Amino acid sequence: MADILSVENLTKTFKSGNRELTVLDNVSFDIEEGSTATIVGPSGSGKTTLLGLCAGLDVATSGTVSLNGIKLNALDEDDRAFTRNQYIGFVFQNFQLLPTLTALENVTVPLELRGEKGYREKAIDLLTRVGLGDRTDHYPSQLSGGEQQRVAIARAFITDPKILFADEPTGNLDEETAAQVEALLFDLNKQQGTTLVMVTHNLELASKTERILKIKGGKLVDDQKSVVA
Ligand SMILES: Nc1ncnc2c1ncn2[C@@H]1O[C@H](COP(=O)(O)OP(=O)(O)O)[C@@H](O)[C@H]1O
Ligand SMILES: [Mg+2]
Repeated sequence: MADILSVENLTKTFKSGNRELTVLDNVSFDIEEGSTATIVGPSGSGKTTLLGLCAGLDVATSGTVSLNGIKLNALDEDDRAFTRNQYIGFVFQNFQLLPTLTALENVTVPLELRGEKGYREKAIDLLTRVGLGDRTDHYPSQLSGGEQQRVAIARAFITDPKILFADEPTGNLDEETAAQVEALLFDLNKQQGTTLVMVTHNLELASKTERILKIKGGKLVDDQKSVVA
């Protein structure tokens, strides 16, 4: 399979006062289309920053990210937003639903932005698949953490993304709910052939993906294929 994501010599620095902080230091790797991978590493090692750069939420200081052959750093903000909408789904640790919209409205946002029609039926179908067919008119504040994350997953999948990035998607959930959300991510990945790149502290979860990349102090220190049952 071809590579859906190519990261080359990626470096990200932040200025804090008059000091420059190197958060990612010359990171390179490729991700095959349709595969599953996890990024692990200590807190503060640069995992969220790396995922944000891969998804075009932010731009690198140097180096390149190519997504489906498109160099993200060559794009302006609008073109990056367009590319995200076309190819990328993102699931955040803290869900990031819009509080003034219902579950259904949150899920339809990405397709509304595209100006597509018929998105309401598709959103209801996805919400039903994540077990929330009876919660479509609930606001985020009326949903549990696990339910909010399932809405976020439905929103991430509604555009049929080629690649899904998930940043500690089960980090704020209890064990049982986390297991449900995990199963859902893997199911949707299988059903839709979506590439899955996930950050997690959970080594058991990491072992369920085909590849484990380890980040330490902003450097890629390990890259292992794992045997998935
Ligand atoms: N916008 C920012 N400005 C300054 N420093 C940042 C910013 N974002 C992240 N950092 C710093 O970069 C480092 C890595 O952060 P992060 O990518 O969130 O790590 P992780 O997700 O592995 O815990 C941390 O030291 C953090 O303080
Ligand atoms: Mg993080």
